[in-house]
This record gives sequence, structure tokens and C-alpha cells, in this order.
Amino acid sequence: MNVRQMSWKNFRNLDEGSFCPCGGLNIIYGKNAQGKTNLTEGIWLFTGGKSFRGAKDQELTETGKESAVLKLDFFSEEREQKAEIKITGGKRYININSVEKKSYRSARGKFCAVVFSPEHISLVSGGPALRRNFIDSALCQIKPGYAKALSEYIKTLNQRNTLLKDIPAHAQLLDTLGIWDEKLSRCGTYIINERLRYLDALKISAEKIYSCISGEKEKLGLKYVKSAENLSDALSSSRRYDIMSGFTSCGPHRDDIEITVNSLSAKAYASQGQKRSAAIAMKLAEAEEAGSFLGENPVVILDDVMSELDSDRQGYILNSLEQFQVFITCCEPYIKKNSDTAKLFKVEGGTVSEKIYFKGQ
Ligand SMILES: Nc1ncnc2c1ncn2[C@@H]1O[C@H](COP(=O)(O)OP(=O)(O)OP(=O)(O)O)[C@@H](O)[C@H]1O
Ligand SMILES: [Mg+2]
Repeated sequence: MNVRQMSWKNFRNLDEGSFCPCGGLNIIYGKNAQGKTNLTEGIWLFTGGKSFRGAKDQELTETGKESAVLKLDFFSEEREQKAEIKITGGKRYININSVEKKSYRSARGKFCAVVFSPEHISLVSGGPALRRNFIDSALCQIKPGYAKALSEYIKTLNQRNTLLKDIPAHAQLLDTLGIWDEKLSRCGTYIINERLRYLDALKISAEKIYSCISGEKEKLGLKYVKSAENLSDALSSSRRYDIMSGFTSCGPHRDDIEITVNSLSAKAYASQGQKRSAAIAMKLAEAEEAGSFLGENPVVILDDVMSELDSDRQGYILNSLEQFQVFITCCEPYIKKNSDTAKLFKVEGGTVSEKIYFKGQ
């Protein structure tokens, strides 16, 4: 998967312009608040996902303007393709190869990217919901069946929780709990097994990448932590507690991924740079997994990864992602040594211009 060209009009602070990245490393540099993240956000929107900075669609149009347009030429499935996004009246519309999609979400799967932005450090330092969300979104991208099972699980879980709250006042409802337990356990066991399988594969890549980032000095560990060994048994044995508390205390919605650096909990012990390295390793491993599953590597967007990484770790990021088209935003024009597969773009006041890259500099 490759971006060949992107153009824009009135997208955030990017007035009107275009750029043609190379198939390797694209370094987008400039001072703060010039439009670097805006540019990468523009690329990301073609995945059919929500803005990675949690923006609402109406915030994407340049203030004071009616609408914004983004156009993307990309290479995928062995052919040139075109996509266009229009944001108007606070809504986002997308067409791919001149076919208008019903919703921007239905464009998912055509153009694939993995993004790392500074907020992703919370994958390591934040609560378990963020880690569950990471594994769920990764699986939803590559397995449509998983997305279906997950939404069925959430629906069943909500129905069971409503029932649990009603039982104290209507004891006869207790008889119906078994039906929901059976459904929840069937759906939940499928989800847990898929997550375990995915994490087993992801872990191999993530541990390898982390070892390289740290110059083979540190070891990352990833482990799926279940809230119950056998979901069906656990639902039966926690019934009394669940009725008292009014919610379901075990199942995949309570599971977590344990992240360790040199066998110590990363959340509790890792430094800021180690946490960032661990989150980057997980994201790059996600890109590798998506690549092997889809048979085509996704585009990798690394927004502001360089800060808080020492020069060795920065070196890995700049020199070791040969198999991907990478967009990396930073304040300094980092030069990638010994390669002719890099381009430099300077962003200044919403204008993007290509700068000459000197090989071997
Ligand atoms: N809808 C909008 N209309 C006009 N300007 C906007 C809009 N949304 C954001 N901006 C402005 O765009 C500018 C650039 O934002 P962006 O996040 O891309 O900066 P950046 O170059 O990534 O900076 P940093 O290095 O600090 O991350 C900011 O000044 C921001 O206020
Ligand atoms: Mg930025």
C-alpha cells in the first residue's frame, strides 16, 4: 500500500496544495503548529477511521470555510486507485474510484494505515480498556467476523447487566439468566481465543522490534491476562456477586494485556522513553501483522515519535522500516543515512514544500 499523491483544499490550516511522497521514508518537518499533524491526519482519514486525535468532522474544515476536500492517489491491490473526501455541513463523505460510499466507515479496508501519535503512550501507561481497544481494533481491521462477534458480545453483555439489575426486584427473572450466560460464554470464548491467537503472533514481532529499538539491551514482554480461566464456569460461580453489584464481573470486557520491560511491569516501572518504545513496538508489530494478513503492508504514520527517544532509538526508527511507506513528523529535518528511498517535506504556515535530500548526509 502506497500513497502516490495527496491534495487538499481548506483542510484545517492547509489552504490548498498537494504533495507526492516516496514509497519509503517521508520526513515531514517544521516548527510547532505549522500543519504537520494535520497533513498526516488527512492521510489517515482515508482509512475510514475516526480522526486519530479524536476530532469531530466539523473541526476538520478550515475555520471560516464551508467545506474541505482531500484527494488521494494510492497504489493498492496491484493497481492505481483514487479516493476523495469531502467534509461539508460537519459531515464527512468519501468516494473510492468514483463510487460514493454509504458512510465514511464503509470505506474501511480499501486504504490501510497504522498510526502512532503521542497519545498512544497511554497504551502502556493507561487503563486496561485502552489495551483491549488496541487489540480489538487491530482484529476488526483484518477479520470482519471478529467485529461482528464483538458487537454481539457487547449487546449480550448489556442485556445481561440490565437483567442483573432487575433480578433483586423480580426474582422470577433469575430463571432466564442461564440463557444469557450461555450466549455470553459462547461469544466471549470466541473473542478470547481470537485475541490470544492474535497476541501470540503480535508478541513475536513486537518483542523483536523492541529489542532492536533498545539496541538489544532490553526485553519487552506481552501477555494476555484473562479475568476467568473458564468463562462458562466463572459466570455461574460469580452469579451471586454479579446480581449484588448489577454488572458482569468476568469476561473479555475485563481482560487485559500485561506489558513488561525486562520482566517488570512497564506501567509501574518503565521510563517515559521505554513506555514510548513499547507502544511504538506494539504499533509497528500491528502493521507487520496487518501486512502478513492482508498480503500488503499498510502505510505507517508516526506523528512526533522522536521526542523522548535517544539518538540510538531514533536511529532505529529512521533506518529500519524499509518494508513500509512511512510518514514521520518531527521538528528537525532528520536525515536518513545510506538510503535513496527518503524524501523531506517542510511544513510552514500550512504550506508543504519538498526539500532536496542529500544522500549520505
Ligand atoms: N479547522 C482548523 N482551521 C484552521 N486552523 C486549524 C484548524 N484546526 C487546527 N488548526 C491549526 O493548525 C495549526 C497546525 O496544527 P498541527 O497540529 O498540524 O501542528 P503541528 O505542525 O503538528 O505542530 P506540533 O509540532 O506542535 O505538533 C495549529 O495552529 C492549529 O491551531
Ligand atoms: Mg503535531
